[in-house]
Amino acid sequence: MHADIVVLPGDGIGPEVTAAAVEALQFTAQRYGHTFRLREHLIGGAAIDATGEPLPAATLEACRQADAVLLGAVGGPKWSDPNAKVRPEQGLLALRKGLGLYANLRPVRPHPATLGAAPIKPHLLAGVDLLVVRELTGGIYFGQKRREADRASDLCEYSTAEIERVVRRACALARERRRHVTSVDKANVLETSRLWRDVASRVAREEFPDVTLEHQLVDSMAMHLLSRPRAYDVVVTENMFGDILTDEASMLAGSMGLLPSASLGEGRVGLYEPIHGSAPDIAGRGIANPVGAILSAALLLRHSLGLEREAACIEQAVAATLDAGILSADLAVAGQAATTAEVTTAVRDRMETGCQVAELRD
Ligand code: IPM
Ligand code: MG
Repeated sequence: MHADIVVLPGDGIGPEVTAAAVEALQFTAQRYGHTFRLREHLIGGAAIDATGEPLPAATLEACRQADAVLLGAVGGPKWSDPNAKVRPEQGLLALRKGLGLYANLRPVRPHPATLGAAPIKPHLLAGVDLLVVRELTGGIYFGQKRREADRASDLCEYSTAEIERVVRRACALARERRRHVTSVDKANVLETSRLWRDVASRVAREEFPDVTLEHQLVDSMAMHLLSRPRAYDVVVTENMFGDILTDEASMLAGSMGLLPSASLGEGRVGLYEPIHGSAPDIAGRGIANPVGAILSAALLLRHSLGLEREAACIEQAVAATLDAGILSADLAVAGQAATTAEVTTAVRDRMETGCQVAELRD
């Protein structure tokens, strides 16, 4: 097949990990006879430096025309003056909003080889397999912001339609898994959460009678995510709760560097990015973990291009790489860390062997 993919390396370690994901995509294309046209555009701090804007119009337009978008990370100390007029993060938020990507999928499946890197006891982690579906284009992130001399406010707002579509997406995804959805809110305090709970209950009852829905308050969820992570299948929640809970959930996997994400809307174009940030402290040193970005490329193949076999090939190659103990500095014991390039090459080598097996089975 032919696909147009926009690549947005961004800032910090973004370009390094994106290059690794691009390598995996290019190898996939070659191996399976696809043509992927990959074109780079500016976003974040790099875009501010070049054009004054965090999301230049040309970038948004290219993304709208593309089949999928692969992103590295945005932000860094250079652009984080609290009084700055433009911030790199605005570029990412405007891109999510501009493409209508309301459902952010963040799967968390700790790998046996990295259990030791997690700060949680290994026996709690075995068998954990959860998928957080974070609402991505509403809530306090996008409500009206005000700043006066001695006060400030951020409005948190949700409409019924915004809640319905993301809960629907979460329930549909649960049907492909263990048919269990946990909806997370703060309905004992927030009006938006009471609406969220009502709408989630109705959507599940009327449209997904075969899916079990439970509600949980976000504070207790933060605790249970660590004390009984195996209890969860699909977790659906609003924008900011999802932001916070997924950083927490990443610790189940051992490192933020391992986790991919997919942001989807009604259309085919999706945005794929590792959940980690730009990590300016290690940028440019060639030691960043490329796994989150490489697994994001796998999600791109699956969700935007419908290439399940190719996606599975990358995922198996990553698993085999971790199994072989080829671990970057965020996971390895001191002195034995693999570089970004070494991990990337190891994944590629295993795609070469692993994917052949997949083809023979066809
Ligand atoms: C994330 C990030 C972003 C967010 C930032 C960079 C704006 O933390 O993708 O989780 O808050 O959504
Ligand atoms: Mg975050």
